[in-house]
Formats: sequence, C-alpha cells, structure tokens
Amino acid sequence: MTEFKRRIAVTGGAGFIGSNLLLYLVPKYPDYLFVNIDSLTYAGNLKNLVSLEDSPSYRFERIDIREREAVTACFERYRIDSVIHLAAESHVDRSIDGPLLFVETNVLGTASLLDAALTRYRADKRFRFLHVSTDEVYGSLGATGYFTETTPFSPNSPYSASKAAADHLVRAYHVTYGLDTVTTNCSNNYGPYQFPEKLIPLMFRNARDRLKLPVYGDGSNVRDWLYVEDHCRALDIVFHKGLSGETYNIGGHNEITNLELVGKICTLLDSIIGGGPREKLIEFVTDRPGHDHRYAIDATKIEKELGWTPDVSFDEGLARTIRWYLDNEEWLEECISGEYQNYYEKMYADR
Ligand SMILES: NC(=O)c1ccc[n+]([C@@H]2O[C@H](COP(=O)([O-])OP(=O)(O)OC[C@H]3O[C@@H](n4cnc5c(N)ncnc54)[C@H](O)[C@@H]3O)[C@@H](O)[C@H]2O)c1
Repeated sequence: MTEFKRRIAVTGGAGFIGSNLLLYLVPKYPDYLFVNIDSLTYAGNLKNLVSLEDSPSYRFERIDIREREAVTACFERYRIDSVIHLAAESHVDRSIDGPLLFVETNVLGTASLLDAALTRYRADKRFRFLHVSTDEVYGSLGATGYFTETTPFSPNSPYSASKAAADHLVRAYHVTYGLDTVTTNCSNNYGPYQFPEKLIPLMFRNARDRLKLPVYGDGSNVRDWLYVEDHCRALDIVFHKGLSGETYNIGGHNEITNLELVGKICTLLDSIIGGGPREKLIEFVTDRPGHDHRYAIDATKIEKELGWTPDVSFDEGLARTIRWYLDNEEWLEECISGEYQNYYEKMYADR
C-alpha cells in the first residue's frame, strides 16, 4: 500500500459541500488518501467528482454510515486515521415531512461512525474526527444578537434537532473516551453543485424559466450566507489546527432576508440573459411550520484563534453561482430528471 501521510474518510463526499471539499482538498494534499464514503441518496451525485476519478489518492466507497460493520471494515481496509463527517439528510422541508429518516441518518449514522472511529482510535491515537454541523442547532434569533459557540442549543426543526443530537454525541465521545473530535457549526452555504431543492438553485431555475418565485411567509426571514469555497477553506484549517474537543462557528457576515436574496437573483439574471424584470414573479406562500426568523453567526473564535476569514463577498459569490448554474444547465436538468442517479451503475457497478 502507498504510504500516505494521512488517510481521511470523507462521509457524504458526493453531496454539495462534500463534492466542493474533495475538489478542494484532493489536489491540495497529494500525499493524503481521501476515501469518499457515501450511500448516494438522492442528494449524492458522483458526476460532481469525475475529475478526481483517476487520482491515485482518491477512492469512492458506496456505504451507508448506519452500517457500522461496513464502515468498520472500510476503515480497517484503508487504515483510516481521520474522518471528516458530512453525510446527512440536510433539507429542512424534507425533515418536516419525514423526521424519522433524519434521526436514523443524522443521529444513528453519526453514532455508528463514532463507534467505528473509536475502534480505529484505539489502534492509532492520531485519529481525528471532524464533525460538520449547522448553526441551526442554536435555534432562532430576534432582530439583534449573534450565535456564539456558547449559545445554548435550541433546535426547532427535526433536521436541526437531529444535527444537535449528533453534535452532543460527538462531544460525549470526546469527553467519555478521549476521541480527538472537533466540531464546526456553519451558516447557510451556497455555490456550485447545490441540489436544486435548496433556495438559491430553486429560485435560479424558476427565475431563468420565468416561473413563479415562491417565497415563504413575507420573505423577512434572515439567513447568513457563506460561499461554499470559504466553508471548505475553514474545514481545512479546523481539521489541521482546531483544538481537540472544541467547536468553531463559521459564518460569512452576510445577513440578508430571503426576499432581498430572491430580488438579487432576479436582477442578476435580468442583466445576464435579459427578459426582466423577474421580481414581479415573486409570490408569497404559506410559511414553513416552525420557520426560524433569523440566523447570524459570530465567527470571532475561528477568526482570532485559527486565522480564518471569509474571502468571497455575497455579491461576488452569488454572481459566480448564477454563472455556474448558467454554464452547467445539463447538470441541473439531470438532477431534476433523476438521470444523474444512473451514473454510479454505469461507472462503478462492475468495479
Ligand atoms: N448546506 C448547508 O448550507 C450546510 C450548512 C451547515 C452545515 N451543513 C452540514 O454539512 C453537511 C453536508 O451538507 P450538504 O448541503 O452538502 O448536504 P447534501 O444533502 O447535499 O449531501 C449529503 C450527502 O450525504 C450522503 N448521505 C446521506 N445519507 C447517508 C448515509 N446514511 N450514509 C452515507 N451517505 C449518506 C448523500 O448521498 C449526500 O451525498 C451536512 O451534515 C449538513 O448538515 C450544511
């Protein structure tokens, strides 16, 4: 076996953030092995990672993180010494329709992964577990204030409750067993490869095609958006420099209401492809139950202690994202038709 400096399992590597992270880390660290562990739910798309397929330091394993024995065997086979854990059910609306899958994947899946990690940790004390979580565990803010790492958890959706439970399990494995863990809680991400059920790609597609733009409630809910590349840089830094047992909030200082955001997408598309004004397509629809009013991150800790700051302003990141979706219409249409799900069978079934 080639001697790699690190052997990292990235769970959920075929999802939105996972794909961006692997595309960032694999070329950056040629002396590390990256094993992408993903069960390929509707949200996992291996086509995102075509450019890595021939890389000697990248592998893909189709494994469900809830299958503890399969995970353990994979960890043994590759002598995994670290985990970057992103696999999750991630869409809040889906968690309202079907909360149990979120508990199974996000809570039980994380527990099974931690247990497999502990077995490896006992054989190799360098083992590190980076758990990627969300700011939604903190609940909702009023007009002022920010989430810090000491803000008490107060999750309001089945999604955020399942992520909070996972965060607690990670903490418990650190305190009880000494597992080297580090957790990040990040604000809303946006950028290339985001599944089209999420706000920005959904509004992009509807606005491009001049369809109605359904905005929840009165559109005044505030989110703090972070360009996915900035999140990937933060994860790289936390993985390498974060202190064991600590949590770090990651945010973009980009607070904006949903209505303003949809307006910006309309303006960008009007200026790039014409056919506006699209803002008149905005339609207010019944609010999401339990819809958190405002999220805002205080990222002072990661900025001061680890030297990370976001690079990409919201206007620049949004323009890049819209341009990416315009240039990758086939990717988007294959997501919507489900065609991308045949890729694994075509490329991997006989391997
Ligand atoms: N997207 C955001 O704005 C955001 C913000 C903060 C934190 N997060 C967290 O980051 C992580 C990644 O988010 P995302 O937006 O990329 O999600 P995503 O839904 O795009 O991707 C999730 C990936 O996990 C895989 N997966 C799901 N269940 C699995 C299972 N049981 N076993 C193995 N793989 C499984 C899917 O196939 C998919 O590839 C999640 O843990 C999420 O909670 C996301």
